[in-house]
Order: sequence, then structure tokens, then C-alpha cells
Amino acid sequence: MRLDVVTIFPEYLEPLNVSLVGKARARGQLDVRVHDLRAWTHDRHHTVDDTPYGGGPGMVMKPGPWGEALDAVLASGTHDLPEARPALVVPTPSGRPFTQGLAVELAGRPWLVFAPARYEGIDRRVIEEYAERLTVYEVSIGDYVLAGGEAAVLVITEAVARLLPGVLGNAESHRDDSFAPGAMADLLEGPVYTKPPEWRSRAVPEVLLSGHHGRIARWRRDEALRRTGRNRPDLVERCDPGALDAHDRAVLEELGWRRLADGRFGRPPDDVEE
Ligand code: ADE
Repeated sequence: MRLDVVTIFPEYLEPLNVSLVGKARARGQLDVRVHDLRAWTHDRHHTVDDTPYGGGPGMVMKPGPWGEALDAVLASGTHDLPEARPALVVPTPSGRPFTQGLAVELAGRPWLVFAPARYEGIDRRVIEEYAERLTVYEVSIGDYVLAGGEAAVLVITEAVARLLPGVLGNAESHRDDSFAPGAMADLLEGPVYTKPPEWRSRAVPEVLLSGHHGRIARWRRDEALRRTGRNRPDLVERCDPGALDAHDRAVLEELGWRRLADGRFGRPPDDVEE
């Protein structure tokens, strides 16, 4: 997979040389190219921003440098075949939520071009221009506002890279990921333990040492249900009741969840936040 990042802070992307993504690059599984947007400015101050039309606070990224930069990046690869066409990924708090499902979709594309903005964002005409030629994904990594999209590029790249064939080493490793499509009916992953069996007088749960695969699987699922109920009640509420067995339902009821008329689970009234 090829990844291009156009940014005014190329050094912000240095972590792409480290760990999983760095190794994937070294192995040739990922071709990452970081470009300085200011290389496509023509004034003495390498200006990339200007005041917003209509007034308001902050600055807006000018379309000129972005257009030249993206044209140059796109011209540096061959993408005549539809399946080789790059996708443009624009991190923005106004984008669609970045989920594991979207990570899987992006991992299926041969070439991603990232356009992280600083300031109040990029002049809208840039997105409209490239949406005519490419698939454009405007993506938010969460309901908070970062100072710029570069940290979001790192997040998205790591989530996508670990899904690429051969990158994780062990293909089984993402099978049980929280949020993996089809994973434990959308439950969070439960707690994990390693050696030693006792640490600071805290023992590893006995069942994990039992060697009894059936009991271990059941315990893990119970813990996943408990954690999901505690940390992500929205996932329990959305959960397909058909994906839950009688034991699952008993665990949730033990935690105070109750069955609704449609079979789904609802929080007890005193748990519901104002
Ligand atoms: N840029 C600023 N905030 C962001 C967010 N939450 N997600 C993606 N890009 C951003």
C-alpha cells in the first residue's frame, strides 16, 4: 500500500518510522511519502493560510498550495486502473467517525493520500475539486478538537497498517479485536494476563491456568460482557439479541440490565444519565 501525507509539519510524521508502521515500511509492505505543503508556495513567506471570507476567527488554508501539492502527488503514481485509484483522506472534526469498519475499508485501498489541515481547515473548493476525481473520506477520530490533523493521520495509519496482510505477523491477532466486524458480537475485549502467576499478591484468575478451553472461552466472554456493560453501555443497547446466548443474558441481567419488549437490552432506569 502507498501512503502520501501532505503537511506543513513533516517532522510530526516521524513516528511513521517506528514500531509496526516503521517495520512495514522497512519490509516494503508500506510505501510512505511525506511532503511539505510549503514546497508548493511561491511567496517569500511560504504562506499557506489566509483570513476567512465572511469573517470569523482563525485562518483558512489557501486552495492554491493544496491544489498544486495534490496534483503533484497524484501525478507521481499510475492510477489509470480504477482499482489503483488513490483515495483522499481529510482528517477533520467535522468528518464521519473513524471506526474499525472504516479502517478495514481503507486497508482495502491501494493508495491513500492524507491532507491534514491546521488552522480552521482547508478552503472547501479543494475537497470539491478532488471529490470529482477521487473518493474523498472526511474523517474524525473522535468528538474533540485537535490543533491539526497530523495526529489523526498517525491514528488512522496505525489502525489501517496493522490490518494489511503480513504486517501483524499473526493473522489471528485481529480476530478478537474490539470492534472487529464479527468479533464477539461487538463486545470490548476483556482483561489479559501473563506470567508470573502471582504479582504483588495478586493472582491470575484461576480459570486461565486450568487449561480448560471451554471454561476459559466462557470466562473471557463474561468479562467482555461486563466490561462492555460498564464502559460502553451504548454497545450493549445496540447489540443484536440473537448474538447473545442464555448465559450472556444472565450475565447482563446480573449487572442490572433488563430485556426490553423487542428483546434488546436496556439500562435500569436509575443508571440512565440525565
Ligand atoms: N483535526 C482536528 N480535530 C480532529 C479530529 N477530532 N479528528 C480528525 N481530525 C481532526
